[in-house]
Amino acid sequence: MKVAVLTGGGDCPGLNAVIRAIVRRASEHGFEMMGLRDGWKGLLDDNHFRLTRETTSGILHRGGTILGTSRVNPFKVENGLERVKRAIERNGIHAVIAIGGEGTLSAATRMAQEGVRIVGVPKTIDNDLNGTDFTFGFDTAVMIATEAVDRLHSTAESHKRVIVCEVMGRHVGWIATYAGIAGGADVILVPEIPADLEAVAQHLQRRNAGGRTFSIVVVAEGTRIKLSADQNEQLVTTGALDEAGRPRLGGVGNIVASEIERRTGFETRVSVLGHIQRGGAPTAHDRVLATRFGVHACDMVARGEFGRMAALRGNEIVSENLAEATRELKRVPKEFFEVAQVFFG
Ligand code: F6P
Repeated sequence: MKVAVLTGGGDCPGLNAVIRAIVRRASEHGFEMMGLRDGWKGLLDDNHFRLTRETTSGILHRGGTILGTSRVNPFKVENGLERVKRAIERNGIHAVIAIGGEGTLSAATRMAQEGVRIVGVPKTIDNDLNGTDFTFGFDTAVMIATEAVDRLHSTAESHKRVIVCEVMGRHVGWIATYAGIAGGADVILVPEIPADLEAVAQHLQRRNAGGRTFSIVVVAEGTRIKLSADQNEQLVTTGALDEAGRPRLGGVGNIVASEIERRTGFETRVSVLGHIQRGGAPTAHDRVLATRFGVHACDMVARGEFGRMAALRGNEIVSENLAEATRELKRVPKEFFEVAQVFFG
């Protein structure tokens, strides 16, 4: 039986660990594995190669993906579905394992509804997928962002400055909340709560008056801000669109920093972490989660559990319905912010 695997959307640490796990388990099931290059493009362009134990050995700890990735959505390409179905038939592919985030797995959900045998594996540094407690990649991104916040502390303290640290996460604040709590940030701004910059300025002034002459503000890239009383809260984008046609986020950190400086008079700097959060080796936690997902996804193919994805519930790996998992984003619950606020004094 031939099984194809693809990685789609933004890369994240742990993708190679899943690919390796799938291929290893596949050999036990007697599957022949095919790697699709650059996400759905691998099917659209019939671009693939054989995955074997040999070609996937030594990749567990490596960042990125040996398959390549893209944000190409087959449903936004002319005759995309037909081309995918033809490639599946021509190559005798029994099932596809799609490793992806919200975009890739939403396309996988539609593919499954169109009769394609698909199993999903949830990945993303953003941790915004429903149906799973955590996605792999998130832990590594949080580690990187936390280390950055630690480093920003010492320089902010020396210079008695405010430093704003902009982190990724798209429309949810998981990375900001975790790295903010772990790094002891003094303010955490997230998409779940529109930012009130006047309240932030007053808070920083109170800290300063109390003798705390530096502050760290962590802001998630998707945080909505309101610059004047007659405006609604707005997302800050670069003005460009990504391959999937979605606005690219970025720039909120600079606006927050200049607003803080204008309102408080405190010298303020900004540090945008960007793709550093997605690169390099996965943490041990992400390697283990990715490996468990990979083995489970392969077993799902063997059991014929299609239209579903591997997921983490508590400490158990289970199978979740893809349509349910992609219906809406998983946002950070209020309780996390209440915990973070205890330390904002
Ligand atoms: O979804 C992962 C992510 O890193 C988001 O946090 C971020 O908004 C986006 O991808 C950046 O995408 P790109 O790599 O296309 O710039």
